[in-house]
Amino acid sequence: MADNHFFASVDIGSHKTVVLLAEEADGRLAVFGHGISKSAGVKKGLINDIKKAAQAIKEAADKAYLSCGDGFHNVSVNISDPHLTVINREGQITITGGEISERDLGLAIKSACAVATPPNKQVVNSVSNRYTLDKNPTTHQGIVVDQPIGQEAKTLEVSMHIVMVSNQCVNAIDQSIRKSGLGLNNIVLNSMASSEAYITQDEKDEGICLVDMGAGVTNLSVFTKGGITYSAVIQNGGNQVTQDIADAFDTSFKEAERLKLKHGSAQIKTIREDRLIQFKQIEDPKDCERYLSHQSLVEVIEQSYLDLFSQIKQNLKSRKLYRSLKSGFVLTGGASKVKNCDALLLSCFKIRAKQGRVNTDKITADHRLLGPEYACALGLLLFNYDESDLRVAQEDDKGKFIDKIKDKFNF
Ligand SMILES: Nc1ncnc2c1ncn2[C@@H]1O[C@H](COP(=O)(O)OP(=O)(O)OP(=O)(O)O)[C@@H](O)[C@H]1O
Ligand SMILES: [Mg+2]
Repeated sequence: MADNHFFASVDIGSHKTVVLLAEEADGRLAVFGHGISKSAGVKKGLINDIKKAAQAIKEAADKAYLSCGDGFHNVSVNISDPHLTVINREGQITITGGEISERDLGLAIKSACAVATPPNKQVVNSVSNRYTLDKNPTTHQGIVVDQPIGQEAKTLEVSMHIVMVSNQCVNAIDQSIRKSGLGLNNIVLNSMASSEAYITQDEKDEGICLVDMGAGVTNLSVFTKGGITYSAVIQNGGNQVTQDIADAFDTSFKEAERLKLKHGSAQIKTIREDRLIQFKQIEDPKDCERYLSHQSLVEVIEQSYLDLFSQIKQNLKSRKLYRSLKSGFVLTGGASKVKNCDALLLSCFKIRAKQGRVNTDKITADHRLLGPEYACALGLLLFNYDESDLRVAQEDDKGKFIDKIKDKFNF
């Protein structure tokens, strides 16, 4: 639950750890506190050192507290498990009373969620996508409604998107949060959180893929026919781009990151005139003056992004999702800030691609916190804000995390 009347999120990233605090104001969330620290103990989205991760969380949490003076305890946290399992499943029940009740809906959801979970995994998020009344078993046609309670029908079918992640990932997050002195409210798949602040219902209806390109991982969420139908985590992101620059020009990672942030662009064709850029190689003495060509730098960056995009393409093609994205791609995450990232994606996929923009009708914050690298932290707040739309679906049977079902309406 939220602390008092406000919400707190922790985005444990491979590059930075962010804590945000927000409260409801005029029907939307307003961020009033924040803290950011350099991540530690996290590699490619996964916690590999709980003690270090906890320290980074504590540092960000202390800064958030200092920024506003409000104490908080329970937080929503992201997860990026490359070995996640996603299942789309329907659950159907017969309605006995004529009118669909809350209980009927609960039973339909339960039936959809009755999947066998492998012993090393657990369900973290279950999202209901679609409610169909009186589905004809032969034609598979029925009446799709936004809100089934109170409707008259003989049968109700609920389509669910169920996300399972490894117990080990959940335990590492749980322990890191607790060691930092905070409490765990819920865990949300990174891409699901990031899409909260960025994607409209129209785009979900048309078909869209959110791409959150971070430092260590790229998270994908695909929405078709109004709901989420696919989630994936690719262990590649901005750090690989930096590493490719370091390898190409024999520089340190730090120098390569500087070159990328200061001179980076994702498309070589946008560089009309070449110029020389001063840089340092690893073994260079202090007074050594060395130069590289801007075009050659951008060439390396473009190739690195193309490698990432081809991984995205493979991922989507293998699930035949690629052609259903009428609204194309929306980009978030720090690595999407490189110049011409959207143009390169468009040229690679031949479908629309745009930089994401936070929907400020849903959430507001200081403009510095509305950048793409805060998509996940903002989305976690929104996911939690919808908690009136969440219901506990699976009781904690084996000490596992309690799953919550996200519905489109209030119970
Ligand atoms: N202007 C820019 N141009 C290119 N890359 C950038 C720019 N600004 C930030 N980045 C890259 O964005 C990455 C950090 O993104 P972000 O803060 O979203 O990562 P994270 O959420 O901490 O990590 P992850 O989600 O992968 O675990 C770094 O690789 C950084 O180099
Ligand atoms: Mg991230």
